[in-house]
Amino acid sequence: MKRFDLVVIGGGPGGYVAAIRAAQLGMSVACVEGRGSLGGTCLNVGCMPSKALLTSSAKYAELKHLAAHGIGVDGATLDLAAMMGRKDKIVGDLTKGIAFLFKKNGVEHVEGWGSVPEPGVVRVSRDGGEMLLAAGNILIATGSEPAPLPGVEIDEVNILSSTGALALADVPRHLVVIGAGVIGLELGQVWSRLGAKVTVVEFLDRILPGNDGEIAKLAQRALTKRGLKFQLGRKVTGIEGGADSLTLTLERVGKETTETLEADKVLVAIGRRPVTRGLGLDTLGIATDDRGFIEIDGSFSTSVPGIYAIGDCVPGPMLAHKAEEDGIACVETLAGQNGHVDYNTVPGVVYTDPEVASVGATEEALKEAGTDYISGKFNFMANSRARSAGETDGAVKVLAAPDGTLLGAHICGAHGGDLIAELVLAMSKGARVEEVARTCHAHPALGEAVKEACLDALGRAIHA
Ligand code: FAD
Ligand code: NAI
Repeated sequence: MKRFDLVVIGGGPGGYVAAIRAAQLGMSVACVEGRGSLGGTCLNVGCMPSKALLTSSAKYAELKHLAAHGIGVDGATLDLAAMMGRKDKIVGDLTKGIAFLFKKNGVEHVEGWGSVPEPGVVRVSRDGGEMLLAAGNILIATGSEPAPLPGVEIDEVNILSSTGALALADVPRHLVVIGAGVIGLELGQVWSRLGAKVTVVEFLDRILPGNDGEIAKLAQRALTKRGLKFQLGRKVTGIEGGADSLTLTLERVGKETTETLEADKVLVAIGRRPVTRGLGLDTLGIATDDRGFIEIDGSFSTSVPGIYAIGDCVPGPMLAHKAEEDGIACVETLAGQNGHVDYNTVPGVVYTDPEVASVGATEEALKEAGTDYISGKFNFMANSRARSAGETDGAVKVLAAPDGTLLGAHICGAHGGDLIAELVLAMSKGARVEEVARTCHAHPALGEAVKEACLDALGRAIHA
């Protein structure tokens, strides 16, 4: 039986980053991955293909607005197969890049599905055969998969999960998206930009639950302006039909009424659930919570010594960068260092146009906790760079303790996902709005809206 200091199960952003860092720290490491390529959900069917299609579709949509710049574009066409080909090449290059990084760092890539028959042993099953690996420590990084909607079967042809919605061969006539969360909005906007009518049906009376409510409203307004239709406060209770002709039954939440909606494709995007089946958690006695997430302590240890877990399969935000931070902190702790993740400053970004970016507490959470706070807001309409770019929708909002210490920041606007980085750094260093406001920001730049929002929290915005 081949022996390793660490065997990682799962080669996604959590697992592959942990494996590389552990190898850097001098451990002998194997990473077991079943899907045939490294990079996990993120590189294969998540972050990267979705961002590739968001970029391509944004370029196509932008053509419609070039007339305002005095540019005429006649005869623009859409070659969806070429767009998908570009996306697939990006995915292929990135996943091969991880294999290269494994070789460079001496991580052994073991292809197959892993399970843990007993502490210290990983069984790898592949093509009917199996092998055992001896492991000083085991790290479970098996990620997540789309949560199913009861009574609805995802066939990836007509009723799609995000994976199917990233690989359609034709632009749907009417795509109904179930769930106004991150996936629903990002992929809804891709297909809307490419010409589909897109209706987003959401159970709650708002979009993007978990984000600051005021900023989510701005996002809803901007996305509606760009063509998405929203039906909020509706629960999908059934889907009938098939082959490009589907009828959804919707129940109005809190009312006794039902409605129907016709579609040729449906995207189910109602959240994701941890992947742990087949690992042998029950036999090992590894504790999971009521939603199936593996329970861990502050050092990522499961209830069984020598077995650790990180990323989407443990409680917390289901984000690639959070999984990476988990992985690094976990193996650094194993190596005797002080691995640490500040979960209060993990940013989240929705890559729609406009982008929706957030870090820290929302205003709703502060109110609910009875925390005293001050807030500042600055609309991009008053930012000169946003005006010259014609990207004036949205605002920057900051929330701070009465002494000015930043507690949360929320942005709806162009490049919000990049702008939030300044506020993440400020928060992680315990900075106050005064310090951000007194930092010289280049002019004209979108970042001036961040400075002005901080000035506004102090009651002295200049351009508002
Ligand atoms: P995963 O990436 O899910 O990787 C787990 C890996 O383990 C998988 O490859 C799986 O095949 C493998 N595995 C599972 N069980 C076994 C087993 N028993 N043996 C061997 N291998 C196994 N996050 C962001 O931060 N930014 C984004 O822009 C973003 N966009 C997204 C877009 C979409 C459409 C989706 C679906 C997700 C997106 N995410 C994004 C979320 C992100 O993909 C996940 O948070 C991230 O991939 C989690 O990393 P992980 O390593 O925990 O798990
Ligand atoms: P989500 O949790 O973001 O949103 C799901 C939405 O579906 C919620 O608004 C919820 O109220 C709604 N919903 C649930 N049941 C419903 C029902 N029966 N009918 C109608 N609406 C219903 O989940 P989503 O969008 O599937 O994404 C999963 C995770 O993937 C995200 O939480 C995020 O962590 C990750 N992700 C991150 C991205 C990014 O960082 N840019 C991009 C895509 C995914």
